[in-house]
Amino acid sequence: MTGDSRENATVNTGNDGEGRALRVAVTGAAGNIGYALLWRIASGDCFGKNQPLILQLLEIPPGMQRLSGVIMELKDSAFPLIHDIVGTDDPNIAFKGADAIFLVGSRPRTKDMDRADLVAANGPIFVGQGKAIDAVASRDVRVITVGNPCNTNALIANANSPGIPSRQFTAMTRLDQNRAVGQIAGYMGVPASKIDDVFIWGNHANTMYPDPRFAKVDGNMVTDIVDSEWLTSEFLDTVSTRGKAVIVARGASSAASAASAAIDHMHDWWQGSDGRIVSMALPSEGWYGVPEGLVFSFPCRCEGGEIEVVEGLPIDSFAQSKIDENVIELLKEREAVKELLENR
Ligand code: NAD
Ligand code: LMR
Repeated sequence: MTGDSRENATVNTGNDGEGRALRVAVTGAAGNIGYALLWRIASGDCFGKNQPLILQLLEIPPGMQRLSGVIMELKDSAFPLIHDIVGTDDPNIAFKGADAIFLVGSRPRTKDMDRADLVAANGPIFVGQGKAIDAVASRDVRVITVGNPCNTNALIANANSPGIPSRQFTAMTRLDQNRAVGQIAGYMGVPASKIDDVFIWGNHANTMYPDPRFAKVDGNMVTDIVDSEWLTSEFLDTVSTRGKAVIVARGASSAASAASAAIDHMHDWWQGSDGRIVSMALPSEGWYGVPEGLVFSFPCRCEGGEIEVVEGLPIDSFAQSKIDENVIELLKEREAVKELLENR
């Protein structure tokens, strides 16, 4: 089955007076992350419990049959917020008028690969999809890139979408932040809800820096309570290599936790982070000396649909060395995909 499979999809079109239905596009919608993500979006966890939605789901032709099954199950869930579901293998249909886009569709790595090894297979996907976003999406669209290597894939989509402001292209490091929160909460024996302001610098790769220096537990500085040796060794290693640990244990890359993090990222962007610091990778405007345009994870706050990088945090020599290491790695990735950035 190829093309627009709307006939499988329509639930309930139009607008029931709760406000305009948002058009939400998800790529790789028949994949593992898609299977967890779509149910969270549809239940209102991301855009609000009263926000009607139209789902615009993209797959490649071999995935269209699975997508039709996913759409059947979405219909069978009878979500009140879902006004329409479109399944297609054409990005110009999937992204048409899209207000929010989750770029998930791409290959996952296997346990003997680094995420950067995926760039040859996955990078070109984001050229065509960037162009389609430029051609047909809402000018206010907000894009999260999940497919790996997600920072560089977001860079490629951004470069191929010159009509959309760069700040509207982000990549996901929220899963890494959530992992960091989970580790500190576990170490201290408290629920994750007690932990604030731990965040990620850099690339969604082993070089990332999960920064515990400003983290708080119940309002108290984590660094005053937790053993500093644990924070600089086991904590850092566990968080930065967690993706591979999940692949080894599960035989497949993280999916439910990735979907949950994508919801957290888009929720906070859309609805605000309530003053909390959250991790988002976005095209640098020179913050903390990171070269312009590199898609780099920074500490951010969100309000009114805007992302603000938290500036002026003190950077010690270790933090600087980690930022530098990530810049070098992302410059290398950018060099490796330079032909994909030319927007021909
Ligand atoms: P999956 O293989 O289960 O699903 C991917 C889906 O994408 C498949 O259904 C496939 O048909 C589809 N697809 C492939 N190319 C496509 C294209 N050009 N357009 C639309 N759809 C396409 O993989 P998954 O577990 O869902 O993971 C997807 C991606 O997310 C991988 O690259 C993985 O490494 C990445 N990931 C990132 C993070 C993160 O924190 N940033 C976390 C987990 C996974
Ligand atoms: C993760 O961090 O779980 C994902 O990026 C998947 C992977 O390849 O590690």
